Amino acid sequence: SIDDLDDATIATILDEGERWFDYNRQRRRNDHRLDGLTVINAFFENSTRTLLSFEIAANRLGAQVVTMQVEMSSIKKGETLDDTARTLNAMRPDAIVIRHALTGAPANIARLMDCPVINAGDGTGEHPTQALLDAATIRQHFGRIEGLKVAICGDIRHSRVAHSNAKLLQRFGAELRFAAPPPLAEANVANLSIDDAVDGADVVMMLRIQRERLDEELGDAPGEFLARYGLTLDRFARANANAVVMHPGPINRGVEIDGTLADHAERSLIVRQVEMGVAVRMACLDLLTADRGS
Ligand code: CP
Repeated sequence: SIDDLDDATIATILDEGERWFDYNRQRRRNDHRLDGLTVINAFFENSTRTLLSFEIAANRLGAQVVTMQVEMSSIKKGETLDDTARTLNAMRPDAIVIRHALTGAPANIARLMDCPVINAGDGTGEHPTQALLDAATIRQHFGRIEGLKVAICGDIRHSRVAHSNAKLLQRFGAELRFAAPPPLAEANVANLSIDDAVDGADVVMMLRIQRERLDEELGDAPGEFLARYGLTLDRFARANANAVVMHPGPINRGVEIDGTLADHAERSLIVRQVEMGVAVRMACLDLLTADRGS
């Protein structure tokens, strides 16, 4: 959780993330600080960005990376997550990266592991490395986080990204506004209309509608969700002149965001977020394994 990181550690990860971002841009591949270390990726939910960026991050630092094929694993024979964790631990990895549909699963298996465990997304709980890369992207773009007006809009109830970002960005002095369709709002969070949330915002962070976690049908006709709750070009015009749009991905084009905005060369930071994801995960792996090198 973001709660497990103090402000100084977060600041170090953002600084190091920006440094690795520049390193990656220079196409340098000569750092071997994780030589001899083994990183296991165990993803029990689908992923493109998080899984591949952790793989690339570990590879760029010289680690050996093993990605567990969950579909081919003994989980399918009924082995429990705890027994799987004990089994992986016996193989003496130096870090494990886990994504799981059960909120709290990474924290639970961390009790059984002798190495650092990184939460790559747990159910509707948190996605701390996404919040770290989002904060690094915002700080790189604006030169600061403090004082920025950040609108977080969409499926907030199911969004582990929103939960981690709310904690991190608030701690670093951003002014947050939240706008969700009423069934997708958090019970204890003030919920604005998307028009009010976007009004004068510096950052508009859109969230995917997580239909896989919805019991009820949204019942929206094609285009209805975008018109009522999504980020259209007209709505984005209410934001500050220099505002940017962000999205953790994957995007439902034409649902929570107009595809033109997602692809906007000046205003969209969505591709930059992915690039920063590799860099920030390099920083996290380096920090967590600093005492494990040869
Ligand atoms: N942002 C994010 O977690 O994307 P993936 O599900 O593709 O990893």
